[in-house]
Amino acid sequence: MFSGPVARYICICGVAVCALLLSRSALSQMKRGRAAALSDFRPREEVPGESFIGAVACASCHAQKSGSHLQTAMGHALQKPTESAVLQSHPRMTFQARQFSYEIVTDNQQSVYRVTDGKETFSEPILYAFGNAHVAQTYVFRHGGKLYEGRVSYYSAIDGLDWTIGDVLNPPPNLEQAAGRDIDGDEARNCFSCHGTAALINGKLRLDRMFLGVTCEACHGPGEKHAIAKLLETGEGSAIFNPKKLAPETLSQEFCGACHRGVDAVAMMPDLGGISNVRFQPYRLFNSRGHDPKEPHLACTACHDPHQDLKQNEAGNDSNCTVCHEARGPAQNGAAGKRCPVRSDKCVTCHMPKVELPGAHFKFTDHRIRIVRPREPYPY
Ligand code: HEC
Ligand code: HEC
Ligand code: HEC
Ligand code: HEC
Ligand code: HEC
Ligand code: HEC
Ligand code: HEC
Repeated sequence: MFSGPVARYICICGVAVCALLLSRSALSQMKRGRAAALSDFRPREEVPGESFIGAVACASCHAQKSGSHLQTAMGHALQKPTESAVLQSHPRMTFQARQFSYEIVTDNQQSVYRVTDGKETFSEPILYAFGNAHVAQTYVFRHGGKLYEGRVSYYSAIDGLDWTIGDVLNPPPNLEQAAGRDIDGDEARNCFSCHGTAALINGKLRLDRMFLGVTCEACHGPGEKHAIAKLLETGEGSAIFNPKKLAPETLSQEFCGACHRGVDAVAMMPDLGGISNVRFQPYRLFNSRGHDPKEPHLACTACHDPHQDLKQNEAGNDSNCTVCHEARGPAQNGAAGKRCPVRSDKCVTCHMPKVELPGAHFKFTDHRIRIVRPREPYPY
């Protein structure tokens, strides 16, 4: 996506004149014509001069949101192998493809990712488990000083290993290629900044400083000043970002979309991401015919509370539909939508259909609201 690292020095006038190393993300903020200020925070972008303190500090005052957030998949989007329930409950997982035998073995100290072709063996300790295994969990290890993504991942639906999605090599040319894919550089920066918090400092991956998972400050920005101000009751402004103030379209496309991928990100992908774009909810929702993304009932937060575990409640979102498509009574006229001739509840079960993504062993919820006709191809 980017070429080499870009870093510039600029001068800031304030209490003292200081030189500040501007990261790539800060530069991209400037390109978008916005100041890199906390009041204008976007996930995955740095706010120079502000510090992260970690979710444990937030919990002392925000007990309820912190308690429920600990149950969410986002809170566990990135884990150490010792914290991964999948690895801890599966001491030995195996997978066989042609001459390659894969094995992930966990004892009470570490998890080891091992591949053999019968002659030689590749073996590295797992550093990170990506994903809470709602769908899958992928393993990242270091080899020859570089970060690699394991070629095989755990899938919940089959309770075992299979090729990492989008990563089938037929056949893998050699043992090292069969073991993993080199993600060192931009790709690793992207992975860790979507699954972790404060992974980048001045555009550099700082695994030593990162917090695991999508935690409070991934969405609210660096919170040190806020925590200190509240602790000392200085009476200063809140010094923390509240996404509540964002317009619905900005929230969905730019805020949640910074990781879940909005229209701008998908527009850059070859073939608009193909059927994989069913995973990019902001993009799908944006393209729902007749549905204005500026409408608050269609914002991500209308149906999802990011501090709560995903609710599996088929009728729970009906009010976000019936507000425009009256469930009963005479059909509405004017700007609002039409009435459904088929049913008056559980709207999302038919109009946000589950779509099987090949290789994922999972049916994703297509956020493109529509009438699903039999045999109609998937609309990209
Ligand atoms: C010492 C107690 C304390 C700590 C620690 C603390 N907060 Fe707060 N926070 C408060 C209080 C009190 C308020 C309500 C007053 C306000 O809106 O500013 C608040 C308000 C907020 C708001 C709403 C702000 C607004 O403008 O509407 C957010 C978001 C928030 N906190 C997030 C966090 C996060 C994230 C952390 C950890 C990095 C954190 N807080 C740490 C006490 C604390
Ligand atoms: C910093 C990146 C990031 C941001 C910002 C973000 N998400 Fe996520 N979200 C993730 C990742 C990564 C996962 C996958 C977690 C997992 O299953 O391991 C996820 C998963 C989810 C899930 C699925 C939970 C499950 O149980 O499978 C929902 C729902 C969700 N996010 C909603 C939101 C909403 C709403 C917003 C905006 C308010 C948002 N996210 C912002 C990264 C992000
Ligand atoms: C642009 C942000 C982004 C990047 C980059 C990214 N992810 Fe994700 N990832 C997400 C979001 C959002 C989800 C949840 C929705 C979904 O399943 O697609 C997710 C889901 C996952 C899941 C499934 C989680 C579950 O609970 O089932 C795995 C595994 C995963 N990512 C691994 C990776 C790995 C490994 C990399 C890097 C090689 C990576 N991701 C890069 C945002 C990102
Ligand atoms: C995935 C993004 C995300 C994460 C992670 C997250 N929040 Fe939030 N938070 C939001 C959004 C979006 C809102 C605004 C919700 C709304 O519109 O009602 C919000 C609102 C808040 C508010 C203000 C509520 C109000 O009524 O204005 C507080 C306080 C807060 N969050 C604290 C936390 C704490 C503490 C954590 C960590 C335990 C956390 N949040 C994690 C996205 C997130
Ligand atoms: C009208 C309600 C609605 C809106 C708006 C909505 N979602 Fe969803 N979302 C759902 C439903 C329903 C599910 C499926 C839950 C289940 O598994 O039962 C879901 C599931 C998800 C999942 C889990 C993966 C999957 O495919 O099951 C993620 C991630 C997600 N939504 C993110 C988002 C994001 C990001 C936005 C904003 C662009 C958003 N959603 C807006 C209703 C909504
Ligand atoms: C802000 C108002 C509004 C909300 C909220 C809304 N709709 Fe709509 N909907 C419309 C409008 C306007 C149209 C297009 C005009 C028409 O055909 O009536 C439409 C069209 C539709 C269509 C026909 C699409 C097609 O391809 O012809 C379906 C199905 C639909 N909506 C279902 C839903 C569902 C399900 C929800 C809740 C998840 C929802 N709508 C939420 C206003 C809304
Ligand atoms: C059992 C599946 C199912 C459920 C549940 C369902 N619908 Fe439908 N809906 C359909 C089908 C099928 C059509 C297309 C009917 C046709 O044109 O023959 C449709 C059509 C529509 C239309 C377009 C009507 C028109 O005149 O063009 C709207 C709007 C709509 N549904 C909204 C909703 C809303 C809102 C809900 C929840 C209150 C809902 N639907 C629940 C299956 C369903």
